[in-house]
Amino acid sequence: MNWLDSAQRYGAVSRALHWGMAVLLILMLGTEWLAELFGMSEREAMSLHRSVGLLLLGLLVFRLLWRGVNHGRLEAHAHWKWAARLGHLALYAAMLLIPASGLLAALGSGHGVEFFGLPLFAPGAEIEWLEEAAEETHEVLANLLWLLIGVHVLASLAHQFWLHDNTLKRMA
Ligand code: HEM
Ligand code: HEM
Repeated sequence: MNWLDSAQRYGAVSRALHWGMAVLLILMLGTEWLAELFGMSEREAMSLHRSVGLLLLGLLVFRLLWRGVNHGRLEAHAHWKWAARLGHLALYAAMLLIPASGLLAALGSGHGVEFFGLPLFAPGAEIEWLEEAAEETHEVLANLLWLLIGVHVLASLAHQFWLHDNTLKRMA
C-alpha cells in the first residue's frame, strides 16, 4: 500500500483523511437534524458536536502536517491550477475557523468544554460578547462551508464528466 502521495494519486493516509473528514464535517453540519432523527436531547447532541468538532480540529492539524510531508510529490493540475488552489485554501480555512469559532463560543458560554468526557476547560464566567460574536461567526462560516462543498463537488464532477481527466481517481 502507498501511504505517501505519488505523482498520480493521493496516498492512503491523504485519502483516508479526506473522506473521513468529509463525512464527519457533513454530519457536523447536520447536527440538529441528526439529533432529531436519533431522538437525542439538545444537551447530548451538542456535547457530541463539541467533541467531534475538536477531533476534526486535531485531524486538521495532522492533515496539514501530512500535506507538508508530501509536498511536491503529487503532480500539479494542467489547467485552472490557481482555481483549485484557491478552492482548497478556502476549504482548509473553513475547516480551521469553524471549529476555532465554535470553541470560542463554548468558552464564552462559561459552561466549560469536555472532549468525550475528558474535561479540557473548566467552567468559568460567561463572556457574553465573546459568545455572541463567536456563535455568529460559527454559524455564518458553517453556511459558507455548504457553499464551498457544493462548488468543490461540482468541480470534481466537471473534471470527471466534462474534462475527462484523472482528478477524481487521484482521490478515490
Ligand atoms: C468542525 C466542524 C464544525 C462544524 C461544521 C460545526 C457546525 C455547526 C452548525 C451547523 C451549528 C448550528 C448553527 C446554528 O444554526 O445555530 C453549530 C452550532 C454550535 N457549535 Fe459547531 N461546528 C463545528 C465545530 C464545533 C466545535 C469544535 C465547537 C466547540 C468546541 C462547536 C460549538 C458549537 C456551539 C456552542 C454551537 C451552538 C450555537 C447555538 O447555540 O446556536 N462547534 N455548529
Ligand atoms: C463529498 C464529496 C467530495 C468529493 C467528490 C471530493 C473530491 C475531491 C477530489 C477529487 C480531490 C482531489 C483534487 C485534486 O486532485 O487536486 C479533492 C481534494 C480536496 N478536497 Fe474534496 N471532495 C469531497 C468532499 C470534501 C469536503 C467535505 C472537504 C472539506 C470540507 C473537502 C476538502 C478537500 C481539500 C482541502 C482537497 C485538497 C487536498 C490537497 O491537495 O491538499 N472535500 N476532493
